[in-house]
Amino acid sequence: MKALDGIKILDFTHVQSGPTCTQLLAWFGADVIKVERPGVGDATRKQLVDVPGADSLYFTMLNHNKRSIELNSKNPVGKEVLIRLIKECDVLVENFAPGALDRMGFSWENIQKINPRIILASIKGFGPGKYQDCKVYENVAQCAGGSASTTGFRDGPPLVTGAQIGDSGTGLHLCLGIVTALFQREKTGRGQKVTAAMQDSVLNLARVKMRDQQRLAAGPLTEYSQFGEGIPFGEAVPRAGNDSGGGQPGRILKCKGWETDPNAYTYFITQAAVWEKVCDVIGEPEWKTKPGYATPKERLDKLNEIFARIEQWTMTKTKLEVMEICNPHDIPVGPILSMKEIAEDEGLYATGTLVRVPHPTRGEYISVGCPIKLSDCEVEVTRSPLLGEHTHEILSSVLGYSGKELDDVIASGAVGEAR
Ligand code: COA
Repeated sequence: MKALDGIKILDFTHVQSGPTCTQLLAWFGADVIKVERPGVGDATRKQLVDVPGADSLYFTMLNHNKRSIELNSKNPVGKEVLIRLIKECDVLVENFAPGALDRMGFSWENIQKINPRIILASIKGFGPGKYQDCKVYENVAQCAGGSASTTGFRDGPPLVTGAQIGDSGTGLHLCLGIVTALFQREKTGRGQKVTAAMQDSVLNLARVKMRDQQRLAAGPLTEYSQFGEGIPFGEAVPRAGNDSGGGQPGRILKCKGWETDPNAYTYFITQAAVWEKVCDVIGEPEWKTKPGYATPKERLDKLNEIFARIEQWTMTKTKLEVMEICNPHDIPVGPILSMKEIAEDEGLYATGTLVRVPHPTRGEYISVGCPIKLSDCEVEVTRSPLLGEHTHEILSSVLGYSGKELDDVIASGAVGEAR
């Protein structure tokens, strides 16, 4: 048995943010029915193509364990099919541009009339307000959510991050909203509307920077390297390079091989609780008691010197040796792992965090599996559907179309190449 067995998801999502959400629901056992435009499908099927003629990795890695129906929701027969799907499903998830669902004739009011138990879950770029009508992509959200202004080095431009906090981050937020609404429905019997705005989700993930924005009113942010370097703060939280958001001094330092390997680096944190161990490991035992070095406060204006000394030591070790030496002392370090190294880590396949997925047109590929592990709900990752692969199956086994009625729907063109 799976946690979400019996839950049917009408998946009207596309690109990345919505599909990450419905993929998680599918992994937890929901029956996810992805509705795609006949002959076109989710735009990502044909984006960043690496194997000509096959669905792209962009699509396959975001749409595992789903079924696909090709359905034109603007065609009158297609609308009828969609109404039957809304009656049948527990949740409708969408991330169309603002107003697109209304323009199709499926406003929240109409959807509720069709099925009062349904949960309508939507991702939009912005919440209600002056930007509510904007179409939004990942990096727009990273910028509008406060992340970019606080990422990068003080003397450089704002930076976006490689982690897709705007898209996949919002998908995660929406997913929690959906299961919470399903839980509430157990008591009320009613559906509800769940929305997650990409700006809000990014801001939620950048919460510590809003903390620091308010702390600025009380004086400079002493744990930022900028403070130790004697550089005054402005009105807004500055970019903090690789300083750690938790207030413990940390830096990314070179390790053995850095001259040729762009990832021969480690993150190194001089956590106050293990300062004495750090001094021993790097060969500066006198710093444990030396005035100016012994307490965190005294060290603030010497962090550049201290990290330069630690780096002299890390440069004599590989990033993994640094980890092996520091871990027994509880000194927090993080090797900078490349995607290549991660893809080759068999330990991650053993836990299902990475999976090898067979695919009929592209062959086997690596995907990131489910990052959330439930002890009583094992996840089996199965390949993404081909466009319209389950159209006929969904019409007949989910919606009960048969005989002439089924033939008529197919003949109408509303469902594309169904058979
Ligand atoms: N049958 C018929 N029409 C369909 C359809 C189907 N099965 N599926 C989609 N369409 C139509 C929509 O109704 C819409 O028509 P309209 O413009 O006449 O109302 C049209 O396809 C395009 O949809 P839209 O959502 O506007 O796609 P887009 O490619 O222009 O924009 C986004 C893409 C991502 C910018 C936009 O969807 C958006 O802002 N979404 C919300 C935020 C978001 O999730 N962004 C991140 C995505 S990773």
